[in-house]
Amino acid sequence: MRIVLVGPPGAGKGTQAALLAQRLDIPHISTGDLFRANISQGTELGRQVESILRSGGLVPDEVTIAMAADRMAKPDAEDGFLLDGFPRNIGQAKALDALLVEQGLRLDAVLDLEVPEDEVVKRIAGRRTCRKDSSHTFHVEYKQPKAEGVCDECGGELYQRDDDQEETVRKRLAIYHEETEPIIDYYREQGLVVTIPALAPVPEVTRRALAALPERA
Ligand code: AP5
Ligand code: ZN
Repeated sequence: MRIVLVGPPGAGKGTQAALLAQRLDIPHISTGDLFRANISQGTELGRQVESILRSGGLVPDEVTIAMAADRMAKPDAEDGFLLDGFPRNIGQAKALDALLVEQGLRLDAVLDLEVPEDEVVKRIAGRRTCRKDSSHTFHVEYKQPKAEGVCDECGGELYQRDDDQEETVRKRLAIYHEETEPIIDYYREQGLVVTIPALAPVPEVTRRALAALPERA
């Protein structure tokens, strides 16, 4: 199954993507996690994008599309994938379509996580992220780690992401409305969008998402 997850920053895309990917046995591909891994490993790509992520802006399309295409070409993504944070604008959506068409493939669904803005602000303000693997996330209220400041999954240190400062979150939300929301209409025209009301506990949102997916071919 080939799925795209969209939703504002802090909607719970990463949280749901990890759970759904496990249930569906497909890789979770997050461009945000890939960028952050490059930054923490000090790669050339990481150096190129570090200040963009810190400021909450978008990485240029050619860089993002090349990185995403590279990841999707790995053997584990042959039978499907769950994209989280990509595509993020119309240019990226068209590039993804072209990539899939080339291989005679298509998306199965676009899950749109719908969460009110005041809730995403709360979710981001309380989020704590693992330094070793940014797909490991916690929340000071909703998902506390067993030991304070330590990741349950790998023992890494928990910290507040640089782009989770209030000012930067506002900018990320504005970019989401301007650049990313239009892809929902783009995919709606292709009949792919399912809206998931996501102001609910994590397991309930997962249940709704699984129920909304088309039958497996
Ligand atoms: P990215 O990492 O994709 O960030 P984002 O889209 O802003 O999304 P977040 O990671 O902030 O939130 P999320 O929806 O995954 O929420 P989470 O599950 O953590 O991108 C970061 C940056 O990378 C971008 O700004 C850009 O610079 C660059 N970038 C990435 N992709 C790009 C692209 N395609 N093009 C160009 N640039 C790109 O949940 C949030 C919190 O809420 C957590 O603490 C969690 O525990 C909690 N929570 C989750 N679900 C629930 C629930 N149901 N109830 C209560 N709490 C919950
Ligand atoms: Zn961890």
